[in-house]
Amino acid sequence: MEKKVISPRGIFEDTYVIDSDGVPRFKILIGGSWSFGSSGGDYFDVRSPIDGNTVARATRATKDDANSAVQAAYSARTKIRSIAAVHRIELFEKTCEVMRSYAEDFIRTIVIESGKPISSARGEFEASLLRMCYASEEARRIYGEYIPGDWVEDTKNKVGMVIREPVGVVAAISPFNYPLFSGVSKVVPAILAGNAVVLKPASDTPISLIMYARALEVAGLPSGVLNVVTGSGSDVGDVITRHELVGAISFTGSTEIGKQIAARAGLKRLHLELGGKAAAIVLEDADIDLAARKVAQGSLRNSGQRCDAISRVLVVEEVAEAFVKKLREEVARTKSGNPWDDDVVVGPLINERALRKVDELVRDALSRGAELVMGGSSEGLLYHPTILDKVPLDSKIAWEETFGPVIPVIRVKDLDEALEVANRSRYGLDSCVFTTSMYKAWRAIKLLEVGTVTVNDFPAHGVGNFPFGGIKDSGIGREGLGYSIDELTVLKTISINVEPSGLRKE
Ligand SMILES: NC(=O)c1ccc[n+]([C@@H]2O[C@H](COP(=O)([O-])OP(=O)(O)OC[C@H]3O[C@@H](n4cnc5c(N)ncnc54)[C@H](OP(=O)(O)O)[C@@H]3O)[C@@H](O)[C@H]2O)c1
Repeated sequence: MEKKVISPRGIFEDTYVIDSDGVPRFKILIGGSWSFGSSGGDYFDVRSPIDGNTVARATRATKDDANSAVQAAYSARTKIRSIAAVHRIELFEKTCEVMRSYAEDFIRTIVIESGKPISSARGEFEASLLRMCYASEEARRIYGEYIPGDWVEDTKNKVGMVIREPVGVVAAISPFNYPLFSGVSKVVPAILAGNAVVLKPASDTPISLIMYARALEVAGLPSGVLNVVTGSGSDVGDVITRHELVGAISFTGSTEIGKQIAARAGLKRLHLELGGKAAAIVLEDADIDLAARKVAQGSLRNSGQRCDAISRVLVVEEVAEAFVKKLREEVARTKSGNPWDDDVVVGPLINERALRKVDELVRDALSRGAELVMGGSSEGLLYHPTILDKVPLDSKIAWEETFGPVIPVIRVKDLDEALEVANRSRYGLDSCVFTTSMYKAWRAIKLLEVGTVTVNDFPAHGVGNFPFGGIKDSGIGREGLGYSIDELTVLKTISINVEPSGLRKE
């Protein structure tokens, strides 16, 4: 595989310097200035999962930097909310144009820093542009409400209005698995709604979002409205999520970190998109070809590193043999390997720790009696697509988030047992059911304890046309074109005494 570093040209050249060994070292953005922060140049390496090479360096921002970033956002919050909404929308239209002219740089960066196959990286780039475009349409619908006062005695001389306002400063923290899109889907609704933002990208994949910030700057975003601080979650993330000048936290990541954030956030608004353990339920009357194809896709896309990935399949015993046979054929057809290859679906996992976790879960299931249908081995950071059959319920993989290309099949007696097992999970993000019976589908829809139920397809959330989010340990709040705007705005009530108008109703 070709050795590469991340050194996008043109507008991005202001965001890094090239170190003596040829590796670019990226800056952080605070109050409109790109710098190496207050530490005087402390950095961390960004290694590509493709070959383990150092492909970039990112500034290790200090707690002081994080604090300065919040202060800068706080100072800029009035600047952004006083820009007419129509001009905020134009800003994102312009950003789309800028990004479009650097499409290959963005796509290449996503592939190199995350190891994501290039077809998925292209999809992620396009989804990021669409998110900006469609969210702008939703921003035109940030309306309010008029409430007549004279329905109630104590307000009969008044009229009420309810309007949506920005929260001020949003702390946005994103995960590694969608290096660009995850950050974009936080920054866009925040700024469209008139907020200033402090963005902390995942340390495994920080460069795509540095580039995004630069594109917004070139498009005309006023200084201080978006600040980007790279560095450890426990330093930078901790400061911005505790900070009293932050009005809302928009976090996507693991349940463990989400709970830590919630515990220290105080009374800030919380939008937490956390872990998942999506169950696919395959019933006796399902179209087995369709179910096998969709389960394979829904489990393996982005190498299984998706919160909405199918990560357990609950198959009714009666059709289990036929289903597993078809699933095996589908998975065998799914190409894995070099992420630069257009046909590849499964690429390397993000890092060694992730690979070890996936392998441990597979070994644990096998030691408890699961049968290995295919896979179960790795090569570098690539974990070969794996199917486990007859996975016993005491296996860790039945309950823990896998975040890898593994499909555990659990055999169940009927729909009721499937629902009971599905709902026993601590997670409540996604699920899907394969059946040709409307009544069984409806029963599953009503009884599954999750944020989204998908019927006869795998869970997928694309640009966010439908609201998306979890219950239980999967989080608080909903992502979506307009829904994310709701999460990052607050209601203000206006009460006007209209008695002097002479129109009081006696
Ligand atoms: N529900 C959803 O919509 C959704 C979507 C995508 C992913 N996810 C979840 O995200 C997880 C995978 O992503 P990940 O491994 O990147 O998650 P993670 O380890 O929880 O990290 C997420 C972000 O939190 C930061 N962070 C770490 N410790 C922190 C702290 N103490 N305070 C504040 N921020 C802190 C990380 O920074 P560092 O990188 O510097 O540690 C990173 O930017 C999975 O659980 C997946 O299900 C959920």
